[in-house]
Amino acid sequence: MSRRSKTQLIKPRIREILSRELPPELVDMLPKHWVQIGDVLILPLRPELEPYKNRIAEVYARVIGAKTVLKKGRIGGEFRETNYEVLYGSDTVTVHVENGIKYKLDVAKVMFSPANVKERVRMAKVAKPGELVVDMFAGIGHLSLPMAVHGKARVIAIEKSPYTFQFLVENIELNKVQDRMTAYNIDNRDFPGENIADRVLMGYVVTTHEFIPKALSIAKDEAIIHYHNTIPEKLMPEEPFATFKRIAREHGYETEKLNELIIKRYAPGVWHVVIDVRVFKK
Ligand SMILES: C[S@@+](CC[C@H](N)C(=O)[O-])C[C@H]1O[C@@H](n2cnc3c(N)ncnc32)[C@H](O)[C@@H]1O
Repeated sequence: MSRRSKTQLIKPRIREILSRELPPELVDMLPKHWVQIGDVLILPLRPELEPYKNRIAEVYARVIGAKTVLKKGRIGGEFRETNYEVLYGSDTVTVHVENGIKYKLDVAKVMFSPANVKERVRMAKVAKPGELVVDMFAGIGHLSLPMAVHGKARVIAIEKSPYTFQFLVENIELNKVQDRMTAYNIDNRDFPGENIADRVLMGYVVTTHEFIPKALSIAKDEAIIHYHNTIPEKLMPEEPFATFKRIAREHGYETEKLNELIIKRYAPGVWHVVIDVRVFKK
């Protein structure tokens, strides 16, 4: 049975159980969509449902077959931590399988955005066997594991958060790419490699432009940089390429934009965008 038709059966069952316990107007507010990462659910809950949140979470968990349910909240801070509230169960560590990749993570603490799936799949296709990829914001290997596993690229993955880093190391082993993927638990600004990468991944948001000079120093004289950032709609379509080009020029590089994609809406009027840029040292 497809995931979609399974979901169509799940919703009436949940409604049926909870309509015996909740006032009718609240039954209509039950979440119609949720995110499942491994066997952990993330539920968006309206404030009106707050008094019933634990029971609601229990019913969703039982009907869907999840071990833990979290209440959706904001992702924030330098490490892009989630800090979601646990509503049901206790174990928030899970293994999520996507596109043949095993991602082990703590869903309560580490971000894993379902909306970025297209980018994770795209990265598996753009990487080429043997090329050296440096992932400056590796997380648990969201974007660079697909490059090592499917693209057979060599990867250096840099992750600053010690907690997230533990999962990155485990994921390299789980996906059996220890022979070509190495992880560093440092701030990417302290990474010593220069002029080494065929491809640099900059999977970060809000302040990614501050890291462009470092990305250029890691890149070979000719390389491709996958530059992500969050862009106010009123600055598009010139941004984010205009800023990248200006900073690259100040550091002695010419640029060619190869591709531009919108990943997702980040906030009202703000988009998470990625551009692929070829850089050449002048
Ligand atoms: C939002 S996650 C993105 C993961 C992945 N690149 C993606 O796009 O799906 C960004 C990661 O970068 C890490 N990070 C932030 N600043 C960093 C820095 N200066 N050096 C290394 N890692 C950093 C955070 O801890 C976080 O795990």
